[in-house]
Formats: sequence, structure tokens, C-alpha cells
Amino acid sequence: MGKESVAYAPPHPAPLPPNGAERGIPPALETRGLDKSFGALAVTHAVDFRLERGARHALIGPNGAGKTTFVNLVTGALRPSAGAIFLDGADITPLSQDRRVKLGIARTYQINTLFRGLSVLENVCLAIGERLGLGGRLFRPVGLRRDVIEAAYALLERLRLAEDAGRLVRELPYGRQRLVEIAVALGLEPKVLLLDEPAAGVPSAESGIIVDVIETLPADLALLIIEHDMELVFRLARRITVLVQGAILVEGTPAEIAADARVREVYLGERTRH
Ligand SMILES: Nc1ncnc2c1ncn2[C@@H]1O[C@H](COP(=O)(O)OP(=O)(O)OP(=O)(O)O)[C@@H](O)[C@H]1O
Ligand SMILES: [Mg+2]
Repeated sequence: MGKESVAYAPPHPAPLPPNGAERGIPPALETRGLDKSFGALAVTHAVDFRLERGARHALIGPNGAGKTTFVNLVTGALRPSAGAIFLDGADITPLSQDRRVKLGIARTYQINTLFRGLSVLENVCLAIGERLGLGGRLFRPVGLRRDVIEAAYALLERLRLAEDAGRLVRELPYGRQRLVEIAVALGLEPKVLLLDEPAAGVPSAESGIIVDVIETLPADLALLIIEHDMELVFRLARRITVLVQGAILVEGTPAEIAADARVREVYLGERTRH
């Protein structure tokens, strides 16, 4: 190689690490030494976890492994027994659930928690109004704000829910209620989105909608998806963490996880629900 070509070499020719860790950029979400016990039952054990910006990360593990508990700790629905949670490098451990939502953490629940007596559109408008800080003023004094309605409709169209906009949530089949939950979470325009079994109860004909929506999420949004449907996991995730009995067994790329003997052992003979 001639001298001239060396002179044109970039100053740092080594490729940048994909996760930003070595560049000093804090992950979107991080937990350190997270523990949770219910009485004598230790459900989360020393969980050190990083969710990078733009992550498409799956958390998998057998029933009762502590996946939902982990999400509950991250959102503030539960207080950890020990350890800390960081959002963009800032310690959010003492903050309330509401504060965490305002800072950009949104979730869907394994079990529906929508306003079942309100319409689909109203549910999504409430989420958008929440993000805009409108709170209870959203519906007063002259009805819903036009910009809020338009944003809500756009979201419903993405989730192929527009035709159900005027229906009460409780009138919808369960699978479509799950899609409304995702619309509500996206209405918050989160930085970190936690999807706890989004496909559970969704008819397979409609689970493609979930995949489509996840594939079109903003590139910088950090997604953590909990799912028992391995086809969905391997289709969507670029990283996978396996949780067993409250502790991280292994983390890696889908190929690494698929080839991991310990993971196979956990799943062999372990009949998951779906
Ligand atoms: N509030 C609670 N009080 C006592 N025990 C709890 C509580 N919440 C969860 N647990 C227990 O913690 C363990 C982990 O539960 P968790 O719901 O987090 O598991 P999971 O990995 O989400 O399971 P699944 O795949 O079935 O949804 C279980 O043994 C569960 O019974
Ligand atoms: Mg769960």
C-alpha cells in the first residue's frame, strides 16, 4: 500500500461498535443489580440489562421466569428490592409510574387495561393528549382537538383499526383490543416501548399487523418485546435475552441463542403456553 493511500485513511478505521457502549453513549434503558422478592420468593435476581437506542430486543423465558415482573419494575408498577434503573443514563429508580411515562417509557400489558367504556378513538386520543400534556382538558370545552383526532386516526390506520374507531373497546374482539393497546402505547410516542406478549390472544390472521407495525417503528425507538411465539421473536429481534428463574441465563444474537445448548435445555420439555 502506497504512502498516499495511508494518508487518506480515516483516523479511526476500526468499525464503531453497534451498541454505542464503547462510545460512552448511555443505553436507552439499563438495569443494574435488579432484585425483586415477594416475601421469601425471589422473582428477579441481579439483573444487569441494557436496551440500546433503536434496539429490537426480545426477552424470552419459560412461564414464571419473571419477564412481566421485570417490565413492572422498569415501568415503576413494582419497586425493586435492590438495584437501579436508568433511562438515558439517568437514575429513574425513585420515580413514579406517571413520571416514567412522561419521560418516555410506554408499555402494553399482558392483560387489557384500556378504558373499555370509551371508544377506540377516545382511548388513543387520551394517550396523545397525555403526551401533549392536555390531561383532563382534552375533552373540554369544545370537544376533542382536531390535531389530536387526526394523529389518533393516523395511528389507527397503521394498526388497521380505523373502521373500529367509533366502537367501544369492550365491544371489540380480544385480539383487536390488543391492537388498540399498541395504538395507545404508540400514541405516547415513547423512547422505550415494552410489549408484553403483544400477540397473545391475537388471531394468527391478525398477528401480521403486529409484525408490520413493529417493523415500521421509529428507528431510534428502543423496543423490548416479550413473546412466547418463537417465530415472531426470531423474525423481529436482533438481540435476545433469556431469563430463567429471575436471572439472565444468556444474551446474544438470534443465531447465538438458537445455537445455545443451555437455552435448548431450558426449552426442551418445557411446554410453553402458545
Ligand atoms: N404480585 C406478586 N406477588 C407474589 N408473587 C408474584 C407476584 N407477581 C408475580 N409473582 C410470581 O413471580 C414469578 C414470576 O412471574 P412473572 O409474571 O413475572 O413471570 P413471566 O415470566 O411473565 O411468566 P409468563 O410467561 O407466564 O407471563 C411467578 O412465580 C409469579 O407467581
Ligand atoms: Mg408474563
